[in-house]
Amino acid sequence: MHAALVTSFDRPPRWTEVPDPEPGPGEVLVHVLAAGLHPRVRSGAAGTHYTSDGVLPLVPGFDGVGRTEDGRRVFFAGLEAPRGSMADLVAVPADDLVDLPEGLDDVTVAAVMNPAMSAWLALRHRAGLRPGEAVLVLGATGNAGRLAVQLARHLGAGRVVGAGRDPASLAVVRRLGADAVVPLTADDAAERLAREAADVDVVVDYVWGAPTEGALAAVTGARSDPAHLLRWVHVGATAGPTITLPAATLRKTNVQVSGSGQGSVSPVAMVSALRELAAALPQVRPQVDVVTTPLREVEAAWGATTASGTRIVLVP
Ligand SMILES: NC(=O)c1ccc[n+]([C@@H]2O[C@H](COP(=O)([O-])OP(=O)(O)OC[C@H]3O[C@@H](n4cnc5c(N)ncnc54)[C@H](OP(=O)(O)O)[C@@H]3O)[C@@H](O)[C@H]2O)c1
Repeated sequence: MHAALVTSFDRPPRWTEVPDPEPGPGEVLVHVLAAGLHPRVRSGAAGTHYTSDGVLPLVPGFDGVGRTEDGRRVFFAGLEAPRGSMADLVAVPADDLVDLPEGLDDVTVAAVMNPAMSAWLALRHRAGLRPGEAVLVLGATGNAGRLAVQLARHLGAGRVVGAGRDPASLAVVRRLGADAVVPLTADDAAERLAREAADVDVVVDYVWGAPTEGALAAVTGARSDPAHLLRWVHVGATAGPTITLPAATLRKTNVQVSGSGQGSVSPVAMVSALRELAAALPQVRPQVDVVTTPLREVEAAWGATTASGTRIVLVP
């Protein structure tokens, strides 16, 4: 078969002929139909993801859509290096397969499941969002942030505020259902966050770093009831891996900071949440900008620049 192959953490993967995978006990062979080039895939291929073990060569790709030998159309996720979905074939534990409903094409599912899952876990499972509650999405302009806005709406949020940098993408976020958007690059970003998001119940945070420090200060400083619980769920760290958290913030407001990702959610809970999400997607009708690229062009796809909120999907 052919696969994308990473042989050095400093170079993009190359389309290469490799031996077919041999399924182990409890595994089945899946013919890959589409695989998303998510930030998680890039960091895995660069050896910088927090789960990376430094072993090469590896096939990149954390998840994908495929067809089993007996004809099921499935989604699968959680692949661990050196095994990846950017290949003609992949061996996957049978228990991890998620049957896909009709109504969504392979490429859309491959594009949305990873970013949508980050929002689904954060909103439903980590924050326990209740209908009517208000949500702030930090980093709403990215793929995951845009899906967080759509899923917050789907789950019955009463108010949704999106904050991000890219102005064109912020306009899209508004069209996707945000009641208000805040440009994080504006000189008065803190004042605008305080005005639009003072009393949110849940923050889904894809940025961390300095923008999170600013947003945390703005929101906690403006609450009309500081004792009202604020659930702040960290999901991504596109702006930096650390924050400084002033001790007083934790005393003067009832803020609960948690995270959502591989490790803080068990593999079994992850598969069960994927099944919930797959079943919900036809009703959500997720809107996503996708660039579809043949797998044989993986090397060029790696270096391609795309507009904010656009996902590359590779098709064998
Ligand atoms: N924990 C999980 O389960 C999980 C799952 C999926 C994704 N993630 C993580 O979530 C993050 C977002 O994923 P994605 O798929 O949405 O990626 P993406 O489509 O590449 O979007 C990146 C987002 O980060 C923003 N950004 C980048 N650098 C920034 C900076 N210096 N300051 C402020 N904002 C910045 C971008 O803003 P602009 O476009 O406005 O410039 C955009 O909103 C990534 O870190 C990813 O690894 C986590």
